[in-house]
Amino acid sequence: MNNASARTDARAAVTVLGLGEMGFALAGAFLDGGHPTTVWNRSPEKADPLVARGAERAATARDAVAAGSLVIVSVKGNATARAVLEASGDALAGRSVLNLTDGTSAEARGVAEWVRGQGARYLHGQIMTIAPGIGAAETVVFYGGSDAVFHDFRPALRLIGGRGTLISADAGVPALYGMAVHGTMWGALNGFLHAAALLSSEGIEAKRFLDEAGPSVAALLGSFPMIADEVDRGEYATRFGALQHHLPSVEDLVRESRERNVDSEFPGHTLGLVTRAVEDGHGGDSYSRLVEYLRQF
Ligand SMILES: NC(=O)c1ccc[n+]([C@@H]2O[C@H](COP(=O)([O-])OP(=O)(O)OC[C@H]3O[C@@H](n4cnc5c(N)ncnc54)[C@H](OP(=O)(O)O)[C@@H]3O)[C@@H](O)[C@H]2O)c1
Repeated sequence: MNNASARTDARAAVTVLGLGEMGFALAGAFLDGGHPTTVWNRSPEKADPLVARGAERAATARDAVAAGSLVIVSVKGNATARAVLEASGDALAGRSVLNLTDGTSAEARGVAEWVRGQGARYLHGQIMTIAPGIGAAETVVFYGGSDAVFHDFRPALRLIGGRGTLISADAGVPALYGMAVHGTMWGALNGFLHAAALLSSEGIEAKRFLDEAGPSVAALLGSFPMIADEVDRGEYATRFGALQHHLPSVEDLVRESRERNVDSEFPGHTLGLVTRAVEDGHGGDSYSRLVEYLRQF
């Protein structure tokens, strides 16, 4: 046996079910990493370039599952992920399944329960990058589920992203982490794009604004640990910058938006939350008090 094949044999056999944009990138990363890689996709022609790079093409999902000790599924939606795995029948028993399909926490838990019922181990992963980021050292992946799968296949998981962490034994938690990142991102992006719309109504370029205001905007991230601490403790007392001081500024933003024919619904939502909290007697509290108005459970 030469050195190259010895290295390959030392790597786990990986199966990738689903060769969309993400599954294709994943299979490519395992091939580049020297793993024997078997691929299956509903539309089989998507496997052609991977086969040319050394992947095995399986005729059925069941054949693909039977070829891998680590079985990865990356398709559109967890109902599809489960259907693909169900088509594998008893081939799943004794294998390790890594589901990298996005969905809700309940959906992930549902697939986990079913997979474990087939005698297989289950790990769920939430990939926090787009396809070109697969394999990068800084790529974050949140894992939840089987500690044994996470540790047994650690070298293979590093090929997905260098910053993979097992955050919970519960397969549903990674989805929540992903949503929390995305929700924060969309909130910040919407705020910035609203600001850009407001500025452009005055002919000011967003880039020019950032040249001066960038440090103020960047400082916002620095306040998150303090906000997180207040939310976790459920204590919102503050000496400065209380909700009553936010209120007139939010009112100004809504009025300015209306006067310039810029959408006022987004800052209007903020105004509604701040107004309710102040009317409820929380005007002296930190902005983090608003989490109580966002919770509806
Ligand atoms: N693309 C990204 O940048 C990205 C980033 C993070 C996470 N993700 C997640 O990764 C997962 C896959 O996304 P993607 O971007 O690769 O999706 P995609 O490019 O739209 O590909 C969808 C995949 O699902 C398969 N599929 C759809 N319906 C099916 C069915 N009824 N039976 C069997 N296979 C079916 C498709 O097969 P066909 O080829 O036969 O249609 C294809 O392999 C999703 O959960 C997505 O949210 C993607």
